[in-house]
Amino acid sequence: MRAKAVILGIETSCDETSAAVMADGVLLSNIISSQIVHHQYGGVVPELASRAHQKYIIPIVEEALVKAGTAKAELSAVAVAMGPGLMGALLVGVNFGKALAYGLGVPFIGVNHMEAHIYSNFIDQPVPAFPCLNLTVSGGHTQLVLMRDDFSYELIGETRDDAAGEAFDKVAKMLGLGYPGGPRVDALAREGNPKAIHFPRTMLLDDEFAFSFSGIKTAVLYYLRDNNLRSSDGTPAIPPALLADLCASFQASVVDVLVRKTMNASKKFGIRQIAVGGGVSANSSLRSRMTAAAADAGCDVFFPKIEYCTDNAAMTSVVGYRKYLRGFSSPLSSSAMSNLDIAAA
Ligand SMILES: Nc1ncnc2c1ncn2[C@@H]1O[C@H](COP(=O)(O)OP(=O)(O)OP(=O)(O)O)[C@@H](O)[C@H]1O
Ligand SMILES: [Mg+2]
Repeated sequence: MRAKAVILGIETSCDETSAAVMADGVLLSNIISSQIVHHQYGGVVPELASRAHQKYIIPIVEEALVKAGTAKAELSAVAVAMGPGLMGALLVGVNFGKALAYGLGVPFIGVNHMEAHIYSNFIDQPVPAFPCLNLTVSGGHTQLVLMRDDFSYELIGETRDDAAGEAFDKVAKMLGLGYPGGPRVDALAREGNPKAIHFPRTMLLDDEFAFSFSGIKTAVLYYLRDNNLRSSDGTPAIPPALLADLCASFQASVVDVLVRKTMNASKKFGIRQIAVGGGVSANSSLRSRMTAAAADAGCDVFFPKIEYCTDNAAMTSVVGYRKYLRGFSSPLSSSAMSNLDIAAA
Protein backbone atom coordinates (compact mmCIF):
# COMPACT_ATOMS: atom_id res chain seq x y z
CA MET A 1 0.00 0.00 0.00
CA ARG A 2 1.28 3.46 -0.87
CA ALA A 3 2.48 5.44 2.19
CA LYS A 4 0.39 8.51 3.07
CA ALA A 5 3.10 10.70 4.60
CA VAL A 6 6.61 10.42 3.16
CA ILE A 7 9.04 12.93 4.65
CA LEU A 8 12.56 13.77 3.51
CA GLY A 9 14.60 15.13 6.46
CA ILE A 10 17.75 17.20 5.90
CA GLU A 11 20.38 18.18 8.49
CA THR A 12 23.37 20.47 7.77
CA SER A 13 23.66 22.54 10.97
CA CYS A 14 27.31 21.77 11.73
CA ASP A 15 29.75 19.21 10.31
CA GLU A 16 27.42 16.34 9.38
CA THR A 17 25.60 16.28 6.03
CA SER A 18 22.63 14.01 6.57
CA ALA A 19 19.38 13.01 4.84
CA ALA A 20 16.68 10.58 5.96
CA VAL A 21 13.37 9.28 4.66
CA MET A 22 10.45 8.48 6.97
CA ALA A 23 7.21 6.96 5.62
CA ASP A 24 4.11 6.89 7.85
CA GLY A 25 6.35 7.16 10.91
CA VAL A 26 8.73 4.36 9.87
CA LEU A 27 12.34 5.36 9.25
CA LEU A 28 13.45 3.96 5.87
CA SER A 29 16.92 5.50 5.63
CA ASN A 30 19.29 7.78 7.53
CA ILE A 31 22.51 8.63 5.69
CA ILE A 32 25.16 10.62 7.58
CA SER A 33 28.39 11.96 6.09
CA SER A 34 30.73 13.28 8.82
CA GLN A 35 33.25 15.81 7.56
CA ILE A 36 36.78 14.68 8.39
CA VAL A 37 38.34 17.84 6.92
CA HIS A 38 38.09 19.53 10.37
CA HIS A 39 40.09 16.97 12.36
CA GLN A 40 43.47 18.48 11.44
CA TYR A 41 42.32 21.84 12.91
CA GLY A 42 41.08 20.43 16.24
CA GLY A 43 37.56 21.84 15.73
CA VAL A 44 34.97 22.71 13.09
CA VAL A 45 36.04 25.39 10.56
CA PRO A 46 32.75 27.05 9.45
CA GLU A 47 33.82 27.93 5.90
CA LEU A 48 35.07 24.39 5.24
CA ALA A 49 31.83 22.97 6.69
CA SER A 50 29.67 24.98 4.24
CA ARG A 51 31.82 23.94 1.27
CA ALA A 52 31.62 20.26 2.24
CA HIS A 53 27.81 20.45 2.66
CA GLN A 54 27.61 22.05 -0.80
CA LYS A 55 29.59 19.16 -2.26
CA TYR A 56 27.73 16.33 -0.49
CA ILE A 57 24.11 17.48 -0.14
CA ILE A 58 22.88 16.09 -3.48
CA PRO A 59 24.72 12.72 -3.28
CA ILE A 60 23.56 12.23 0.34
CA VAL A 61 19.91 13.04 -0.48
CA GLU A 62 20.10 10.71 -3.52
CA GLU A 63 21.54 7.93 -1.36
CA ALA A 64 18.81 8.38 1.28
CA LEU A 65 16.09 8.19 -1.41
CA VAL A 66 17.66 5.13 -3.10
CA LYS A 67 18.14 3.28 0.22
CA ALA A 68 14.51 4.02 1.14
CA GLY A 69 13.29 2.90 -2.30
CA THR A 70 11.49 6.25 -2.58
CA ALA A 71 11.14 8.36 -5.72
CA LYS A 72 11.26 12.15 -5.37
CA ALA A 73 7.70 12.32 -6.71
CA GLU A 74 6.48 10.25 -3.73
CA LEU A 75 7.63 12.83 -1.15
CA SER A 76 4.84 14.51 0.84
CA ALA A 77 7.08 17.16 2.47
CA VAL A 78 10.68 18.25 2.98
CA ALA A 79 11.77 18.97 6.58
CA VAL A 80 15.02 20.84 7.24
CA ALA A 81 17.02 21.98 10.30
CA MET A 82 16.73 25.83 10.31
CA GLY A 83 19.02 26.47 13.33
CA PRO A 84 20.69 26.82 15.71
CA GLY A 85 24.01 26.10 14.04
CA LEU A 86 26.62 27.56 11.70
CA MET A 87 24.92 30.02 9.34
CA GLY A 88 26.84 29.03 6.20
CA ALA A 89 26.26 25.34 6.95
CA LEU A 90 22.54 25.76 7.67
CA LEU A 91 22.00 27.78 4.47
CA VAL A 92 23.07 24.84 2.31
CA GLY A 93 20.42 22.48 3.71
CA VAL A 94 17.73 25.15 4.02
CA ASN A 95 18.12 26.48 0.48
CA PHE A 96 18.38 23.00 -1.02
CA GLY A 97 15.29 21.87 0.94
CA LYS A 98 13.26 24.94 -0.04
CA ALA A 99 14.16 24.55 -3.72
CA LEU A 100 13.26 20.84 -3.68
CA ALA A 101 9.93 21.46 -1.91
CA TYR A 102 9.15 24.29 -4.35
CA GLY A 103 10.03 22.13 -7.36
CA LEU A 104 7.90 19.23 -6.13
CA GLY A 105 5.04 21.48 -4.98
CA VAL A 106 5.05 19.96 -1.46
CA PRO A 107 5.20 21.66 1.97
CA PHE A 108 8.53 22.85 3.35
CA ILE A 109 8.77 22.24 7.10
CA GLY A 110 11.35 24.12 9.19
CA VAL A 111 12.69 22.21 12.18
CA ASN A 112 14.62 23.55 15.18
CA HIS A 113 17.82 21.50 15.54
CA MET A 114 17.38 21.32 19.34
CA GLU A 115 13.78 20.08 19.04
CA ALA A 116 15.15 17.47 16.62
CA HIS A 117 17.65 16.31 19.29
CA ILE A 118 14.70 15.97 21.70
CA TYR A 119 12.69 14.02 19.12
CA SER A 120 15.57 11.56 18.59
CA ASN A 121 13.76 9.70 21.39
CA PHE A 122 10.59 9.56 19.27
CA ILE A 123 12.03 7.66 16.29
CA ASP A 124 11.70 4.14 17.70
CA GLN A 125 9.12 2.70 20.08
CA PRO A 126 8.64 3.00 23.00
CA VAL A 127 8.51 6.81 23.02
CA PRO A 128 8.16 9.09 26.08
CA ALA A 129 4.64 10.10 27.11
CA PHE A 130 3.79 13.75 27.89
CA PRO A 131 4.56 15.49 30.12
CA CYS A 132 8.25 14.64 29.80
CA LEU A 133 11.48 16.20 30.93
CA ASN A 134 14.24 16.39 28.30
CA LEU A 135 17.93 16.77 29.00
CA THR A 136 19.69 17.79 25.77
CA VAL A 137 23.46 17.52 26.03
CA SER A 138 25.31 18.33 22.81
CA GLY A 139 28.38 20.10 21.46
CA GLY A 140 26.79 23.56 21.74
CA HIS A 141 23.97 23.15 24.28
CA THR A 142 23.05 21.79 27.70
CA GLN A 143 19.34 22.27 28.29
CA LEU A 144 16.56 20.96 30.51
CA VAL A 145 13.29 21.31 28.61
CA LEU A 146 9.85 20.46 29.92
CA MET A 147 7.33 19.32 27.33
CA ARG A 148 3.64 19.06 28.19
CA ASP A 149 2.67 18.23 24.59
CA ASP A 150 4.12 17.87 21.08
CA PHE A 151 6.12 21.00 20.11
CA SER A 152 5.57 22.75 23.45
CA TYR A 153 8.92 23.62 25.00
CA GLU A 154 9.53 25.21 28.40
CA LEU A 155 13.24 25.84 28.94
CA ILE A 156 13.80 25.37 32.66
CA GLY A 157 17.60 25.51 32.69
CA GLU A 158 20.64 25.74 30.45
CA THR A 159 24.38 26.21 30.67
CA ARG A 160 25.79 29.62 31.51
CA ASP A 161 29.09 28.92 29.81
CA ASP A 162 30.39 25.75 28.13
CA ALA A 163 28.08 22.99 26.91
CA ALA A 164 28.69 19.49 28.30
CA GLY A 165 29.97 18.23 24.92
CA GLU A 166 32.20 21.28 24.57
CA ALA A 167 33.74 20.49 28.01
CA PHE A 168 34.41 16.90 26.86
CA ASP A 169 36.03 18.19 23.65
CA LYS A 170 38.15 20.86 25.37
CA VAL A 171 39.36 18.48 28.10
CA ALA A 172 40.13 15.82 25.47
CA LYS A 173 42.21 18.39 23.61
CA MET A 174 44.13 19.25 26.81
CA LEU A 175 44.79 15.54 27.32
CA GLY A 176 46.04 15.16 23.74
CA LEU A 177 43.15 12.96 22.64
CA GLY A 178 42.19 14.78 19.40
CA TYR A 179 38.80 16.00 18.14
CA PRO A 180 35.98 15.23 18.77
CA GLY A 181 37.06 14.06 22.19
CA GLY A 182 33.83 12.86 23.86
CA PRO A 183 33.97 9.28 22.57
CA ARG A 184 37.72 9.00 23.37
CA VAL A 185 37.23 10.24 26.95
CA ASP A 186 34.31 7.81 27.35
CA ALA A 187 36.42 4.86 26.12
CA LEU A 188 39.47 5.68 28.28
CA ALA A 189 37.29 6.37 31.35
CA ARG A 190 36.20 2.72 31.34
CA GLU A 191 39.78 1.77 32.29
CA GLY A 192 40.11 4.45 35.00
CA ASN A 193 39.00 5.15 38.58
CA PRO A 194 36.32 7.88 38.74
CA LYS A 195 37.27 8.63 42.36
CA ALA A 196 41.03 8.98 41.71
CA ILE A 197 40.95 12.79 41.40
CA HIS A 198 38.30 15.09 42.81
CA PHE A 199 37.13 17.67 40.29
CA PRO A 200 34.45 20.24 41.28
CA ARG A 201 30.72 19.69 40.77
CA THR A 202 29.24 23.08 39.91
CA MET A 203 25.64 22.97 41.11
CA LEU A 204 24.89 26.77 41.04
CA LEU A 205 22.51 26.64 43.97
CA ASP A 206 21.15 30.14 43.33
CA ASP A 207 19.46 28.89 40.18
CA GLU A 208 18.77 25.21 40.55
CA PHE A 209 18.61 24.25 36.89
CA ALA A 210 21.35 26.33 35.31
CA PHE A 211 24.60 24.52 34.48
CA SER A 212 28.25 25.58 34.34
CA PHE A 213 31.07 23.42 33.02
CA SER A 214 33.91 25.93 32.60
CA GLY A 215 35.11 25.37 36.21
CA ILE A 216 35.60 21.63 35.69
CA LYS A 217 37.57 22.31 32.51
CA THR A 218 39.82 24.81 34.33
CA ALA A 219 40.32 22.35 37.22
CA VAL A 220 41.66 19.76 34.75
CA LEU A 221 44.00 22.39 33.25
CA TYR A 222 45.36 23.32 36.73
CA TYR A 223 45.78 19.65 37.62
CA LEU A 224 47.98 19.12 34.51
CA ARG A 225 49.98 22.28 35.28
CA ASP A 226 50.42 21.61 39.02
CA ASN A 227 51.51 18.00 38.45
CA ASN A 228 53.97 18.82 35.64
CA LEU A 229 52.03 16.74 33.13
CA ARG A 230 53.03 18.86 30.15
CA SER A 231 56.28 18.55 28.27
CA SER A 232 58.40 21.63 27.53
CA ASP A 233 56.56 22.27 24.22
CA GLY A 234 53.19 22.28 26.07
CA THR A 235 51.98 18.90 24.80
CA PRO A 236 50.55 16.54 27.42
CA ALA A 237 52.91 13.92 28.86
CA ILE A 238 50.62 11.72 30.93
CA PRO A 239 51.27 8.10 31.95
CA PRO A 240 48.49 5.82 30.54
CA ALA A 241 47.02 4.76 33.93
CA LEU A 242 46.81 8.40 35.08
CA LEU A 243 45.25 9.40 31.72
CA ALA A 244 42.49 6.85 32.28
CA ASP A 245 41.96 8.12 35.87
CA LEU A 246 41.81 11.72 34.62
CA CYS A 247 39.18 10.81 32.01
CA ALA A 248 37.12 8.80 34.52
CA SER A 249 37.30 11.53 37.20
CA PHE A 250 36.42 14.38 34.80
CA GLN A 251 33.56 12.36 33.30
CA ALA A 252 32.23 11.51 36.78
CA SER A 253 32.02 15.20 37.71
CA VAL A 254 30.08 16.10 34.54
CA VAL A 255 27.77 13.10 34.80
CA ASP A 256 27.13 13.73 38.53
CA VAL A 257 25.88 17.25 37.80
CA LEU A 258 23.74 16.17 34.81
CA VAL A 259 22.09 13.32 36.73
CA ARG A 260 21.50 15.27 39.95
CA LYS A 261 20.00 18.31 38.22
CA THR A 262 17.76 16.20 36.02
CA MET A 263 16.48 14.16 38.95
CA ASN A 264 15.95 17.37 41.00
CA ALA A 265 13.90 18.83 38.14
CA SER A 266 11.91 15.61 37.76
CA LYS A 267 11.05 15.78 41.47
CA LYS A 268 10.28 19.51 41.50
CA PHE A 269 7.95 19.36 38.49
CA GLY A 270 6.57 15.89 39.32
CA ILE A 271 7.52 14.48 35.91
CA ARG A 272 8.34 10.79 35.68
CA GLN A 273 9.18 10.53 31.98
CA ILE A 274 12.80 11.53 31.38
CA ALA A 275 14.43 11.66 27.93
CA VAL A 276 18.10 12.38 27.22
CA GLY A 277 19.37 13.44 23.77
CA GLY A 278 22.30 15.06 21.92
CA GLY A 279 25.83 13.78 21.31
CA VAL A 280 26.71 13.36 25.01
CA SER A 281 23.68 11.06 25.46
CA ALA A 282 25.92 8.43 23.79
CA ASN A 283 28.12 8.51 26.91
CA SER A 284 28.15 5.12 28.60
CA SER A 285 28.46 6.47 32.15
CA LEU A 286 25.65 9.02 31.67
CA ARG A 287 23.44 6.19 30.34
CA SER A 288 24.09 3.84 33.22
CA ARG A 289 24.02 6.46 36.00
CA MET A 290 20.84 8.15 34.72
CA THR A 291 19.14 4.78 34.25
CA ALA A 292 19.97 3.79 37.86
CA ALA A 293 18.87 7.17 39.31
CA ALA A 294 15.60 7.11 37.35
CA ALA A 295 14.86 3.54 38.48
CA ASP A 296 15.46 4.56 42.12
CA ALA A 297 13.00 7.44 41.71
CA GLY A 298 10.40 5.29 39.91
CA CYS A 299 10.84 7.19 36.61
CA ASP A 300 11.06 5.91 33.02
CA VAL A 301 14.17 7.03 31.17
CA PHE A 302 14.71 7.13 27.39
CA PHE A 303 17.93 7.33 25.37
CA PRO A 304 18.15 7.42 21.56
CA LYS A 305 20.00 4.70 19.62
CA ILE A 306 23.67 5.65 19.43
CA GLU A 307 23.39 6.68 15.75
CA TYR A 308 20.64 9.19 16.66
CA CYS A 309 22.69 10.94 19.41
CA THR A 310 25.03 13.11 17.32
CA ASP A 311 23.65 15.07 14.37
CA ASN A 312 21.49 13.08 11.95
CA ALA A 313 18.48 13.67 9.72
CA ALA A 314 16.39 10.82 11.19
CA MET A 315 15.57 13.14 14.10
CA THR A 316 14.72 15.96 11.65
CA SER A 317 12.42 13.67 9.67
CA VAL A 318 10.45 12.54 12.74
CA VAL A 319 9.74 16.17 13.70
CA GLY A 320 8.78 16.81 10.05
CA TYR A 321 6.47 13.80 10.09
CA ARG A 322 4.67 14.85 13.29
CA LYS A 323 4.36 18.47 12.08
CA TYR A 324 3.09 17.31 8.67
CA LEU A 325 0.32 15.27 10.34
CA ARG A 326 -0.77 18.46 12.11
CA GLY A 327 -0.85 20.40 8.83
CA PHE A 328 2.13 22.55 9.74
CA SER A 329 4.33 24.10 7.03
CA SER A 330 6.82 26.97 6.85
CA PRO A 331 6.77 29.79 4.29
CA LEU A 332 9.40 29.53 1.55
CA SER A 333 10.53 32.99 2.65
CA SER A 334 11.65 31.60 6.03
CA SER A 335 15.36 31.69 6.64
CA ALA A 336 18.04 29.79 8.53
CA MET A 337 18.80 31.28 11.96
CA SER A 338 22.14 30.58 13.65
CA ASN A 339 20.81 31.29 17.16
CA LEU A 340 17.27 29.92 16.84
CA ASP A 341 15.76 29.51 20.31
CA ILE A 342 14.04 26.28 21.40
CA ALA A 343 11.15 28.35 22.75
CA ALA A 344 10.63 29.78 19.21
CA ALA A 345 10.36 26.31 17.61
N1 LIG B 1 30.40 8.92 24.12
C1 LIG B 1 30.44 10.24 24.30
N2 LIG B 1 30.71 10.76 25.50
C2 LIG B 1 30.74 12.11 25.70
N3 LIG B 1 30.53 13.01 24.71
C3 LIG B 1 30.26 12.52 23.49
C4 LIG B 1 30.19 11.14 23.22
N4 LIG B 1 29.90 10.99 21.89
C5 LIG B 1 29.81 12.24 21.37
N5 LIG B 1 30.02 13.17 22.32
C6 LIG B 1 30.04 14.63 22.19
O1 LIG B 1 28.86 15.06 21.54
C7 LIG B 1 29.13 16.32 20.90
C8 LIG B 1 28.52 16.33 19.52
O2 LIG B 1 27.13 16.25 19.68
P1 LIG B 1 26.12 16.94 18.68
O3 LIG B 1 26.43 16.47 17.30
O4 LIG B 1 24.79 16.66 19.21
O5 LIG B 1 26.55 18.45 18.89
P2 LIG B 1 26.46 19.67 17.89
O6 LIG B 1 25.42 19.38 16.86
O7 LIG B 1 27.83 20.01 17.44
O8 LIG B 1 25.94 20.82 18.84
P3 LIG B 1 24.43 21.39 18.94
O9 LIG B 1 23.49 20.26 18.72
O10 LIG B 1 24.37 21.95 20.31
O11 LIG B 1 24.32 22.43 17.88
C9 LIG B 1 30.63 16.50 20.87
O12 LIG B 1 30.95 17.48 21.83
C10 LIG B 1 31.15 15.12 21.26
O13 LIG B 1 32.39 15.15 21.94
MG1 LIG C 1 23.54 18.79 17.27
